[in-house]
Amino acid sequence: MKWWQKATVYQIYPRSFQDSNGDGIGDINGIIQRLDYLQDLGIELIWLTPMYVSPGRDNGYDIADYYQIDPIFGDLADFERLLKEAHQRGIKIMMDMVVNHTSDQHRWFQESLKGKDNPYHDYYLWRDPVDGHEPNNWLSKFSGSAWEYVPALNQYYLHLYEKRMPDLNWRNPQLREEIYQMMQFWADLGIDGLRLDVINNISKDKDFPNDTFETPSDDGRNFYTNGPHVHEYIHEMYERVFGPNNFVTVGELSSTPVSEAIRYTNPEREELSMAFTFHHVKVDYTGGKKWTLGQYRLSDLKRILSQWQTEMAAGGGWNALFWSNHDQPRAISRFLDDGQYRDQSAKLLALVEFGLQGTPYIYQGEEIAMKNANFTSIDQYQDAESINAYHQMLADGISEDLAIKILQQKSRENCRIPMQWDMTANHGFTTGMPWLQPVVADDYSVATKAQAPDSVFAFYQQLVALRKTEPVLIEGQYQLLAPEDEAVYTYQRQLGDKKVRVIANFTDQTQQRANAAVKAVMMSNYPDQQLTTDQITLRPYEAVMLEIE
Ligand code: GLC
Ligand code: CA
Repeated sequence: MKWWQKATVYQIYPRSFQDSNGDGIGDINGIIQRLDYLQDLGIELIWLTPMYVSPGRDNGYDIADYYQIDPIFGDLADFERLLKEAHQRGIKIMMDMVVNHTSDQHRWFQESLKGKDNPYHDYYLWRDPVDGHEPNNWLSKFSGSAWEYVPALNQYYLHLYEKRMPDLNWRNPQLREEIYQMMQFWADLGIDGLRLDVINNISKDKDFPNDTFETPSDDGRNFYTNGPHVHEYIHEMYERVFGPNNFVTVGELSSTPVSEAIRYTNPEREELSMAFTFHHVKVDYTGGKKWTLGQYRLSDLKRILSQWQTEMAAGGGWNALFWSNHDQPRAISRFLDDGQYRDQSAKLLALVEFGLQGTPYIYQGEEIAMKNANFTSIDQYQDAESINAYHQMLADGISEDLAIKILQQKSRENCRIPMQWDMTANHGFTTGMPWLQPVVADDYSVATKAQAPDSVFAFYQQLVALRKTEPVLIEGQYQLLAPEDEAVYTYQRQLGDKKVRVIANFTDQTQQRANAAVKAVMMSNYPDQQLTTDQITLRPYEAVMLEIE
């Protein structure tokens, strides 16, 4: 067993975590101030979203200089201090690495604009117009065409994301060499691993064919997702960087089937440690479309999670487990109840996640049941993806009202509001003007909610600890029970004769179900679970983890 299979990861979105100098933006010194809190939670690995020099079109995912910390977060000396302080507390650090694209401000791109014979031109994906138009019909994930025209060169460059984020050309061996050297620079500084942003998109079909648009996802994706050479490139990264530096790595793999995720993460292939995939959080995409008011069926959620559980285990792959991250609305608001049953709902989500096989991730604030921002005006948004989607919706004839409602449900800005530390101004996040508006009226904060023994925080603490001592949670075989049940999710893990069962009521109604004979209640989100031998009564959003005969 690898150490990171038992560990829990905590994701920090530095911009919104803790500001230390009153400029309204979270920073490295702020993170250092909060390391004791994270140690107390018991996590062993931090994923830091990007802090490199960046013009900030996509909050740091548009990197202009891979070798420097952006001054808004601090400098390299601060970063080294963070590493040291974290390591002293037994916490490892995984940096976010964005190598599918750079910022258009990156020196390479600026050079590449100078002419077709500039040595950096081929670092990016430039194509000539076809009949005076875009080279193909691929769409950007941030709305509109994936191609941007540059008149001076009479060429288009590819950007799968924001238009100021040109995609890199991984066929170019020199580019790959520069990337590996840069990764080694951070390894030498002492980081422990990498989260690899959209890494399954780095190898594009060299012919750039048109896509069919038969379904919403036939938008170009078929020709760059898990593309022709992606496994070669990642294996090369492993040989050059991950292996020699003993890195833990997680690949962000959207739109990826299980068979591919197995190839990325089966250790024999020497690619990545684990796969971060999204099928379960797309369960409320109506007709495959994100920007809709969606509903989900529990049976669909169970089917998706169970498929990943069973097939990844059979193929020797390893899952990252999560409900929320910086690109997702808060799961508690989206899938459960962030009102009357807020604590129960938060604990239910934690229990269901931590009982599965894989490495669990906690996104900052999840451990205190933070909820969606629910902004009521487009002016409150800063996220380019959300703003572009809003305008696209209006252009498609959707009313402003509905568009705002859809953003309230689906926008990632919901989870990017500042961390709620206490009940002073701006929840103790900053003494200045926060870069993004917090939910002022919410009384959930670390100071007010994380102290009680029955708090959501304490529940997470227990789960984090439990995974360190219960091998059945790491290695146990997964089995889904009652797949058609639309109210209750029941699954079992088994290792030798040890059997653990998770039972979770996803509704606000009391439910009664048959149950096996119980040996012990391991975890429960109500204080007084009454168990009979063959029946269980579940109150609204009640969830239990039981050891059974
Ligand atoms: C990933 C990041 C997301 C970013 C995108 C482009 O999906 O998680 O925040 O916008 O990549 O880099
Ligand atoms: Ca700051």
